[in-house]
Amino acid sequence: MAKFRPSYVCQNCGAVTQRWQGKCESCGEWNTIIEEAAALGVGGASARRGAAGRPFPLEDLSGVGDAEPRVVTGISELDRVAGGGFAPGSATLIGGEPGIGKSTLLIQACAAVARSGGRVVYVSGEESTAQVRLRAARLGLAGAPVQLAAQTFVEDIVATLGSGDAVRFVVIDSIQTMWSDAIESAPGTVSQVRGSAQALIRFAKASGAALLLVGHVTKDGQIAGPRVVEHMVDAVLSFEGDGAHAFRLLRAAKNRFGATDEVGVFEMTGKGLAEVPNPSALFLAERDGGAHPGAAVFAGVEGARPLLVEIQALVAPTSLGTPRRAVVGWEPSRLAMVLAVLEAHGGLKLGQYDVYLNVAGGLRVAEPAADLAAAAALVSSLTGASLPRDAVFFGEIALSGSVRAVAHAGLRLKEAAKLGFARAFAPPSPRVEGEGARMAVTPVGSAASLVALIAAAAIDAKPGRTIEKSPRGGVTN
Ligand code: TYD
Ligand code: MG
Repeated sequence: MAKFRPSYVCQNCGAVTQRWQGKCESCGEWNTIIEEAAALGVGGASARRGAAGRPFPLEDLSGVGDAEPRVVTGISELDRVAGGGFAPGSATLIGGEPGIGKSTLLIQACAAVARSGGRVVYVSGEESTAQVRLRAARLGLAGAPVQLAAQTFVEDIVATLGSGDAVRFVVIDSIQTMWSDAIESAPGTVSQVRGSAQALIRFAKASGAALLLVGHVTKDGQIAGPRVVEHMVDAVLSFEGDGAHAFRLLRAAKNRFGATDEVGVFEMTGKGLAEVPNPSALFLAERDGGAHPGAAVFAGVEGARPLLVEIQALVAPTSLGTPRRAVVGWEPSRLAMVLAVLEAHGGLKLGQYDVYLNVAGGLRVAEPAADLAAAAALVSSLTGASLPRDAVFFGEIALSGSVRAVAHAGLRLKEAAKLGFARAFAPPSPRVEGEGARMAVTPVGSAASLVALIAAAAIDAKPGRTIEKSPRGGVTN
């Protein structure tokens, strides 16, 4: 009789194999075949090889599926991004740069869930329990019934979580510090991160606990460690911000239980992370009273939320052979494109000018809709003509010089109206109903007409002065 040989599952591709470690015959990844197939419930493949298929009962789509209520933290910006709270038995990865506030947000979430009932566990692999307690005390959360541990050995953590009352909410801070006995390689390696995540996720699925894994990110913003962890979890949230500014954005990059276009906005305060229900007000708070040339308010949308932010430009004669182009918070290639369009279709000569562009407040704008606001700021700085203080701008500029319609025009106008703006410069588009209809919309069909509008406004505002005679003038049309 043939000797019994257990089968194993490759952690990378899921193929069943007879080898327990080494190079996977299916995907070629090294050192990944560690799980005993039987333990994962996918075993029997070898035993059944050649056997006829057996029918299994199918379920109705209409059956009661997602009946279990979500774990709601009460921090509404977090709950919304998670898709209306965290689904029981789900795994969520929260990535972000060191010091951005991941531990702070999650200890606040733990305290809030614990206060609403159920067992909540916070496992830190980076700080001692004393440090975590100190932070909680500073945040005024010392009284919350959260269970703490400073542990990194996954088998012990799973055993602890599995004993006693059912866990409702568990945070592992961070997944990179965890290690499992089932993996041969050293702690911190890709296989260890993957293996530890797998063990913890399996626990969450089996127990119904909502699991949150903290993940470090590398310099380029990727979550460190194997990409496969992102595929293993149900949701990937990223916590972003700028060390120099207090605001933080929480975005969903992937979410099996909710929309990925939700954005949560927080502000880091002395008392931890505070929710920002009106982010536009936060970003416009630093606008000073007078109108300055070179500042344009962009009516943007982050995810599904309107967000107004000031775009600042400085166009100044260069003293260098090659003029400088510097940009903070926007794509340099996008700036180059807008400058090229202003030269080719707007009649501006920018070759002798240094150009600086900055998105105020440290926000990173990725929308092409910011083109028109950036162009307006640039033209305003070049001509010395201030833009109206009660105006917002949005629209995508094509290489042909035309201004294209962008999504969510109504949402942008509504937000601008709410914040006291009276007019908008926007692509020509169908009429907007509702609150946004209060705005006077000036349709801007092309980069050339934007230049003409700003130049005309400058002449209106200062009779006797023409753009051509302006000391900073560069308009040649
Ligand atoms: P932390 O949550 O430790 O970041 P992460 O876990 O993402 O590495 O946040 C650390 C930073 O937040 C630290 O620089 C101090 C700041 N902070 C505050 O400004 N206010 C606070 O109440 C707390 C707890 C932290
Ligand atoms: Mg931390």
